[in-house]
Amino acid sequence: MKVGIGADHGGFEMKQQLAQLLAGEGHEVIDFGNKVYDASDDYPDFAIPLALAVAGQQIDRGILVCGSGVGASVAANKIVGVRAALCHDHFSARQGVEDDNVNILCFGGRTTGIAIAWECTQNFLSARFSNADRHRRRLAKVTQLEAVRSESMPEHNQSQLLSLMTGEK
Ligand code: RB5
Repeated sequence: MKVGIGADHGGFEMKQQLAQLLAGEGHEVIDFGNKVYDASDDYPDFAIPLALAVAGQQIDRGILVCGSGVGASVAANKIVGVRAALCHDHFSARQGVEDDNVNILCFGGRTTGIAIAWECTQNFLSARFSNADRHRRRLAKVTQLEAVRSESMPEHNQSQLLSLMTGEK
C-alpha cells in the first residue's frame, strides 16, 4: 500500500520508527516531513499536504503524528474528503475504517507508545470499509456537509491551498 506519513517535532521520533516498520512490511512509504527534527516546526505544514494527497488519491492512506495527535487530526479534517481520527487502541483503528472509512490515522508521539501505535497502524492498514448501507447512509450525511462547505467557499479550493502552503504559483 502507498502510505503517507508526516509529523512535527512532537511526533518526529515516532514517525521515523513507524516509517521503518512500514517499509519493513513492504509498504511504499511517502514521507511528508518534517524530514529533520526541528523543535519549532508546525504540524499544519505536514498534516495539510499529506491530507491533500489522501484526498487527491495520490496516496492510499496517511499516518500523522504530533505531540498529542490532536492538532494533526484537526488540521487534516479541514480537507474535503479526509476522515482523520486520533487513535489509541487497535479496535478503533480497525473499526474506524470498517464503519467510518477513516483514511488518516493520527497518533500522539508524547502520549502513545510505539508498540501500541504499530498495532493500531497494522489494524488500520489491513481494514477495509464495510460498504454496509447504514454506514454509507451515515457517511453520506457527512459528505453532504462537505459539499455545502465547498460551494460556500469556492475561492478556497484545495489546489490553491496547497500552492499557498508550499509557496508555489
Ligand atoms: C507541539 O508542541 C504540540 O502542540 C503539537 O505537536 C501537538 O501536540 C498539537 O496538537
